[in-house]
Amino acid sequence: MEYSTDDILARLAPPPGAAADWTIPQAWRDYTRAEHAMWDRLFARQAAMLPGRVVPAFLEGLDLLGLSEPGIPDFDALSERLRKLTGWTVVAVPGLIPEEIFFGHLANRRFVAGRFIRKPEQSDYLEEPDIFHDVFGHVPLLAHPVFADYMQAYGEGGLRAMRFGAIHKLARLYWYTVEFGLIRDDSDLKLYGAGIVSSHGESRFALDDPSPNRLGFDLKRVLKTRYRIDDYQQTYFVIDSFDDLLRQTLEIDFAPLYRELESAPDIDIDSILPGDRVITRGTQAHAKSRLMGERHA
Ligand SMILES: [Fe+2]
Repeated sequence: MEYSTDDILARLAPPPGAAADWTIPQAWRDYTRAEHAMWDRLFARQAAMLPGRVVPAFLEGLDLLGLSEPGIPDFDALSERLRKLTGWTVVAVPGLIPEEIFFGHLANRRFVAGRFIRKPEQSDYLEEPDIFHDVFGHVPLLAHPVFADYMQAYGEGGLRAMRFGAIHKLARLYWYTVEFGLIRDDSDLKLYGAGIVSSHGESRFALDDPSPNRLGFDLKRVLKTRYRIDDYQQTYFVIDSFDDLLRQTLEIDFAPLYRELESAPDIDIDSILPGDRVITRGTQAHAKSRLMGERHA
């Protein structure tokens, strides 16, 4: 599809009240007491769930950034702490933003976060990421130097992928690492993906449930694998370390890879292939039961 310059500018035009880079003031003073209390409830629930399940670097990040202080974090204070550790900052945006703007922020070590917090009836399911997902889920690992470098590399890779029309392939890498990644920790598996660690249900499901496949991370494989946005994942990919993830992402030459993937078929969300490093062969009972429920509905 071809876009005129006007189309592109219109598509990239920020909504009223937002700056040219789509950032908005967090307006921290405007949060109500009920909104701060919602954060505290979600925080307490995950703080009780995660020790022993999440990668230790996540808990260290919470600590270093003072995220366990009560109430919704103030982005200015949070950014000041984070900048000293890894040079990242956190900026507020009004919900979903265009890809090129998103990648541009990441490439410049700015993490974009929604400023709104979910309503009490949305404690367990959210259609659009809120500040709890964005800040509690994503920001602690930005205090980890190697993960911080990976996030910047992802932003730079996104800007390059746009030129190859390969965004939807690269988005799978973000999905299966930054959002829903598992990591090996000695002989155990641990959580690190923000979509898991900010979800009460999935932080149990992803590690303990016999349903999902758990496969060793393989970059090319991940770029070919579909994912689901409406329920827990049917396959999780397990990295060996953040160093290994960063190395694999920096070493690969994406240009020929994107060309190769253009003609390669996508892999289904629950497939296990001959070359996969299988850690758990999932029963897929959860997905099957949901499907039965839908058929009976
Ligand atoms: Fe996220």
